[in-house]
Amino acid sequence: KATPRVRQLTAGLINHLHDFARENELTVDEWMVGVELMNAAGRMSTDKRNEGQLVCDILGLESLVDEITYKLASTAADEPTATAILGPFYRHNAPRLPNGSCIVSDAVNAQGDRTWMHGTVSDFATGNPIEGAVVDVWHTAPNGLYEQQDPDQPEMNLRGRFTTGKGGEYDFYCLRPVPYPIPFDGPAGKVLQALDRHPFRPAHIHFLITAPGYKPIVTQIFDRKSKYIDDDSVFAVKDSLIVDFLPFHGDPRADFELPYDFKLASF
Ligand code: DHB
Ligand code: FE
Repeated sequence: KATPRVRQLTAGLINHLHDFARENELTVDEWMVGVELMNAAGRMSTDKRNEGQLVCDILGLESLVDEITYKLASTAADEPTATAILGPFYRHNAPRLPNGSCIVSDAVNAQGDRTWMHGTVSDFATGNPIEGAVVDVWHTAPNGLYEQQDPDQPEMNLRGRFTTGKGGEYDFYCLRPVPYPIPFDGPAGKVLQALDRHPFRPAHIHFLITAPGYKPIVTQIFDRKSKYIDDDSVFAVKDSLIVDFLPFHGDPRADFELPYDFKLASF
């Protein structure tokens, strides 16, 4: 539909694409490489592999629009929890689990550093706890693969949705994630190779936090000790999202503890 916003965005895109072609004296052969890349990304984009988004991400586009969107949303001096890109591997309908449950299958649990993550979800302006907020979490297995990329993991492994209690509290068991390469065997990988860039992301855990009356937060937290913390292939790291995994004793189910509080802004 030709809304003013659609006209503005389309005109802007055309202007910049034409300027790009003129400034670089783009040839037909070079333009065709781009067309092939778009077609290949399209062919490869399935439920399990979001290649179009991956290409945008290694070019920094998703991180840039995340930054812009967050800036528009944050007006007050004290800020809500910083956002970060969704990435290509989110799945709807992760299992709803009670607080205190474990999102790791037994086989995968044996291979990783078991972690107890806990904290609260609160209103950033008032500090009041938010009851009934949903903490939707997902991360990779120690082999660096998300469940939908890996036939050896059970469906929805390392994913879960937790609901905060009266004091805004949530907790669950997961693993301390590891750095891992984004899929390198498609168009996004080709672009990285053409630029002599590596495909790795620092160890991270993804979140989507929602609560009635509050702006949803899509974010990730990053392990301070992880390799690539200063060199993320998709440019998603923000200082305020870097966390410390603390050695944890006295709980047979966890080797590390990870406290983290989320702060939401109301609509
Ligand atoms: C991307 C993001 C991720 O969180 C991830 O695990 C892999 C790739 C991305 O932005 O392309
Ligand atoms: Fe990820």
